[in-house]
Amino acid sequence: MNRVGIVGVTGFMGAELARLIIPHPHFELTMACAGSSAGQKLADLRPGFGALGDLLVAESDPAKLAENCDLVFLALPHGKSAEIAAALLQLGVKVIDLGSDFRVKDRTVSEALYKRPAPSQELLDQAEYCLPEITGAPSKDTKLIAAPGCFATALTFLLSGWPDEQATVFGVTGSSGSGIEPSAGVHHSLRTTNFTAYKPLQHQHIGEVSQTLSNLGKDIEIDFVPHSAPMVRGIHLTAVCNRPVEELETNYAPLKRHPLVTIQRGVIPMGAVIGTCRVLIGLAPNPDNTKTTVCVAIDNLLKGGSGQALQIANLLYDLPETAGLPLIGQWP
Ligand SMILES: NC(=O)c1ccc[n+]([C@@H]2O[C@H](COP(=O)([O-])OP(=O)(O)OC[C@H]3O[C@@H](n4cnc5c(N)ncnc54)[C@H](OP(=O)(O)O)[C@@H]3O)[C@@H](O)[C@H]2O)c1
Repeated sequence: MNRVGIVGVTGFMGAELARLIIPHPHFELTMACAGSSAGQKLADLRPGFGALGDLLVAESDPAKLAENCDLVFLALPHGKSAEIAAALLQLGVKVIDLGSDFRVKDRTVSEALYKRPAPSQELLDQAEYCLPEITGAPSKDTKLIAAPGCFATALTFLLSGWPDEQATVFGVTGSSGSGIEPSAGVHHSLRTTNFTAYKPLQHQHIGEVSQTLSNLGKDIEIDFVPHSAPMVRGIHLTAVCNRPVEELETNYAPLKRHPLVTIQRGVIPMGAVIGTCRVLIGLAPNPDNTKTTVCVAIDNLLKGGSGQALQIANLLYDLPETAGLPLIGQWP
């Protein structure tokens, strides 16, 4: 068994990761850490973990993590990963970061996007950005992996088969994308009666998407307008391309060999991916097949976050890519 730790286990990402890792056939959760909730029983904080009994949330101490773990997942608020990642790397522990600290390689671009100091260039250079179906599996000797953002994951799938130099993409996300900290945007009373665009044409994930596309030799001007919808999980993207459906089916065909990706003709029900680590891509032509609507759906907490981080870990340890990942959606 490979020994793994989670830092940020009480958050949306960390708790979802713990839910996947505890029954995983090849990983053992040896440390579950957080910040202000350290010292309490995980089951007292998150009743869903009741069956685990007395598992205590530990302090996020790099030395203890290094004693007990070969790999640590960081599921921390933005800007909090760099310091602990540096300490863990020094102690010889591999790190997969679910946050944004290491995603953008250019410090100037990173600081402009995130409005905070970026990690050192040395750390950024060490980090490998991994979206398995697009960038390939991580190198076996990599020590630090940056897992993609949730919108970035869906956008990169959509744009990987996009044939034009410009794309206008309409996106929808649920409230869990913002984490557990309450704010007006995720307040139940305000969210369930509302639907609104936010960060139009300026979402920070465009930085990592452009970087990935550029590495693939693609230069696409991305006009992305995300919307917050009255739902908890899920991301759905829509874009219209002035090409017949067969051309797009050819473009997206290389993704078909990946076990988590399904491509189908027509629109797609986002509910089919909720609770799974799958990616659903729909290609719907207009009546005279001169234009195609391209849709992509993922569960932001799974393929958009924790599930993808575990997929990366499976690949890093040469395990079956989908080990421990949920593949069948909840219904209803
Ligand atoms: N939510 C998504 O859909 C999604 C998708 C992809 C990536 N991400 C990224 O994943 C990361 C985690 O997101 P989230 O939604 O899970 O956030 P979250 O719900 O706010 O959880 C944050 C976690 O970090 C812990 N924490 C905060 N400060 C800490 C510190 N100084 N030391 C140790 N632990 C600390 C918290 O523990 P305490 O409660 O004990 O303080 C909590 O467990 C973020 O960077 C986010 O951008 C999120």
